[in-house]
Amino acid sequence: MSDSARDKAVHRAVAHDSAAKHVQGTAMYVDDIPEPRNLLHAYFGTSTVAHGRIKRLDLDRVRAAEGVKAVITSADIRGQDDISPVHAADEGVFANDHVQFYGQPLFAVAASSRDLARRAVRLAGIEYEPEPAIVDIDAALDAGLFVSEAHVMSRGDAEDAICNSPASVEGVLRTGGQDHFYLEGQVSMVIPVEDGDLQVYTSSQHPSEVQQTIARVLDKPANAVTVEVRRMGGAFGGKETQAAQWAVIAALLAEQTGRPVKLRLDRDDDMQSTGKRHDFIIRYQAGFDDQGRINGIRFFHAARCGMSSDLSAPIADRAMFHADNAYYLPAAHIESHRCKTHTVSNTAFRGFGGPQGMMGIERVIDEIAQHLGTDPWQVRRANFYAEAPRNITPYFMEVQDSVLDELCSQLADESGYTARRTDVMAFNESNEIHKRGIALTPVKFGISFTTTFLNQAGALVHVYKDGSIHLNHGGTEMGQGLMTKVAQVVADEFGVPLAQVKITATTTAKVPNTTATAASAGSDMNGMAARAACRTIRERITDFLVDEQDVSRSDIHFEQGMVRYGPQSEAFAAIIERVWMARISLSATGFYKTPKIHYDREQARGRPFFYFAYGAAVSEVEIDTLTGENRILRVDILHDTGQSLNPAVDMGQIEGGFVQGAGWLTSEELWWDEKGQLRTHAPSTYKIPTCGDVPEEFHARIWQQGCNREETIHKSKAVGEPPLMLAISVFSALGQAVVAAGGDLSSLDAPATPERILNAIAAGRRD
Ligand code: MTE
Ligand code: MOS
Repeated sequence: MSDSARDKAVHRAVAHDSAAKHVQGTAMYVDDIPEPRNLLHAYFGTSTVAHGRIKRLDLDRVRAAEGVKAVITSADIRGQDDISPVHAADEGVFANDHVQFYGQPLFAVAASSRDLARRAVRLAGIEYEPEPAIVDIDAALDAGLFVSEAHVMSRGDAEDAICNSPASVEGVLRTGGQDHFYLEGQVSMVIPVEDGDLQVYTSSQHPSEVQQTIARVLDKPANAVTVEVRRMGGAFGGKETQAAQWAVIAALLAEQTGRPVKLRLDRDDDMQSTGKRHDFIIRYQAGFDDQGRINGIRFFHAARCGMSSDLSAPIADRAMFHADNAYYLPAAHIESHRCKTHTVSNTAFRGFGGPQGMMGIERVIDEIAQHLGTDPWQVRRANFYAEAPRNITPYFMEVQDSVLDELCSQLADESGYTARRTDVMAFNESNEIHKRGIALTPVKFGISFTTTFLNQAGALVHVYKDGSIHLNHGGTEMGQGLMTKVAQVVADEFGVPLAQVKITATTTAKVPNTTATAASAGSDMNGMAARAACRTIRERITDFLVDEQDVSRSDIHFEQGMVRYGPQSEAFAAIIERVWMARISLSATGFYKTPKIHYDREQARGRPFFYFAYGAAVSEVEIDTLTGENRILRVDILHDTGQSLNPAVDMGQIEGGFVQGAGWLTSEELWWDEKGQLRTHAPSTYKIPTCGDVPEEFHARIWQQGCNREETIHKSKAVGEPPLMLAISVFSALGQAVVAAGGDLSSLDAPATPERILNAIAAGRRD
């Protein structure tokens, strides 16, 4: 390795910039910001019916309660009472007189302490005229209640292809929702400054949207609202749109009282009053040949969207885009219904509908394998995207970059899949009570926002006179390591040590009109935007040196904290000082828009994704057929991160994503009672994975051959969401174990809790 390569920051496993601060407790979150004098604390009162009219909302006792300084309802909103992210205008800050879910905010107070605010909201006198509540997907389908129009994606004649196939399978799979369970709950602090302007600190993936929503509701221009986010204590999609409501409530109260206001949600209230992953019903019908190759497939998706649209349309679309996962479907018909229910509005969650879409096709593959009595991995492989004509997706995009055949074969070899499958079968032969299963499943995940115009990013870079660098961009940090990765890119552009680059809080005052940090595209887009800004400054420095030293451009190099020109070499900082004295700007913005993408949604045709991220996992599980309990015995992962910007950070995403996915598919269960009240609203009743649930043997690896055929930042690939879907291997393996116990594969829904596993076993034994 050359000296200069050794000193590069990119592709190196450097620690997350906040790692030490996270451990020491010195990383600042919104609730750690020193509180201004005069700070008031907000809290909100919520509905205790799922659907109905408010007959009486008596807030007199709330107003009179100790410490209360202000009380607001929707009547106090002077601007547009609209917090919907997609111009649907179907969600206000508070329920007006029409309540649409149990836990919906009705009013808010500001009081001298958080405790007094929380006590005060309980004193409201509320009477409802209850109306019938539509709580689940089936009821919404029966009632014909939707938040937006159904959508269809279709290629070829699926019906005909199924009819003309030698064999077919059909069935229904239900996948559950998921709470984000970010460690830091929703929180915002709003400080009134001069001229009625507001300074907002919030835990949001989308500062620009918080800014615009506050401006809209408070009837202010956007330039009167500045939103700053240093970091979130986890977000996972739950703060993409749904941080806005709490920031707006704090802003309304700050404006009304003229005092700073903070609103931090209690965990139970956060779980009850914020949206989650959409649960789905997926009906499928597939025709295939005697090799298990799919000829035609029909999917019917129905998603529980909750009371408003939020991001449900693009989420349900992404489920359709991933209904093929890694497989060529010669004829496909995918139809999607976005059900309106009297529950909290569901929202983005890592994978954004993709996981639900993939679950359908992976179940189909497992069913085909069972029908043929073969190894599901062989059926998977037989259906992989391949050379033309087997490379066209149901939305007419060409898959040009599939590495799955190679990656999965390597994983199968390295994990000893085939031999272990034989061992699992032998184990099952000789054990009555415990049964095992093993499965290898692939992931192909499309990278880009499918709404094309969202694929844009900006950055702002300053070089100060002493050579230190200030980096800002539109992306937000939620633990995924985005800030570290972009700083690595910047350090290498100037050839300076990483420590010379200051990572700064995201703010709408520095980089405007940004899109959410989401769709895993954060480092792809902000890395490119920051690089563009650096290159502008570097060009100016180069021009200066060409002039001053009479050297040619190609002889100028930025590396190891020095600038080398011809035979000479000088410290970066020394040159910067002279550049400044020559009156040359050392500050620049950068902008990036993802190339090559286009999509016509009406026709459901185009190239919505710049490229695909790939990975695969082998999971081996064991179930107890008497109790339904299950354990993950061993997991092997091979994941393609292209040429990883930071293997340490990427490995964190791979392992964390997998475990979060395993939680979704095995233990995390959301349960609403018949009144529409969420009864699983705390860790006591909602079980996320803990250290004890990490697989006993866990081998996750980055695929060393990984590259990106597209021009992404340093040939890397996005990694935030795709690994979550590697956990489908756990669900598939559990299905194999259920079958080994005489159970019925198609009866196993997600999450595969002990109860569902027992039911699926019982369903098979009954037949
Ligand atoms: N990792 C951590 N630690 N915390 C998070 O909240 N969110 C995930 C993923 N990884 C998340 C995370 C989601 S939903 C997305 S879209 C990506 O990070 C967003 O960041 P990126 O685009 O920089 O990958
Ligand atoms: Mo991630 S679900 O795209 O915020």
